[in-house]
Amino acid sequence: MSDKLMSDLKILITEEEIKNKIKSLAKDVENVFEKDEDIYVICVLKGSVMFCADFVKQFNHNIQMEFIRISSYGNETKSTNNLQAIDLTLPNLNNKNVLIVEDIIDTGLTARFLTDMFKIKHQPKKLVFVSLLNKKCARQVNIEPDFYGFEIEDKFVVGYGLDYKGYFRNLPYIAYFPQ
Ligand code: IMP
Ligand code: MG
Repeated sequence: MSDKLMSDLKILITEEEIKNKIKSLAKDVENVFEKDEDIYVICVLKGSVMFCADFVKQFNHNIQMEFIRISSYGNETKSTNNLQAIDLTLPNLNNKNVLIVEDIIDTGLTARFLTDMFKIKHQPKKLVFVSLLNKKCARQVNIEPDFYGFEIEDKFVVGYGLDYKGYFRNLPYIAYFPQ
């Protein structure tokens, strides 16, 4: 059982708002690629599971999906600054179009790590980064996604893939625990 109650949560972004945003975001990202270009969509697990699944359904391109897994929060509500690359197994992406799909950019450490890793190890033709949420005010390294859905305050949020100690990923909205 979670040590926090679902009934204490306050909704920050509704299911409807997420749906609408993803539609417009997918159209914006589509325009970055030529119509006949193949794209590898990289879903960064576990947090991006919902966003990535809904995003690709609105994304009108030939894509292939790959999944990598990184952990940075552990069981805390503050970034541990301690990145754990759990699974980075990927095909050869040399000279391919790569679209990284993240749930949230907080300190920016994960985004920095991923961007550097793709550039150095894979040398993609094009590397595009999209994040559903952007906590600009929590940034520790200078990095911005190419596209994002919502800018949010420095609040710990859960739902729609984001978790607290593994819980609340299944909520269809984004919510927070009021202090
Ligand atoms: P960063 O490396 O600090 O930018 O954090 C990246 C990862 O931490 C994200 O991909 C999330 O999985 C997790 N994370 C950051 N902020 C939150 C939050 O408010 N709620 C839940 N997970 C978060
Ligand atoms: Mg994530």
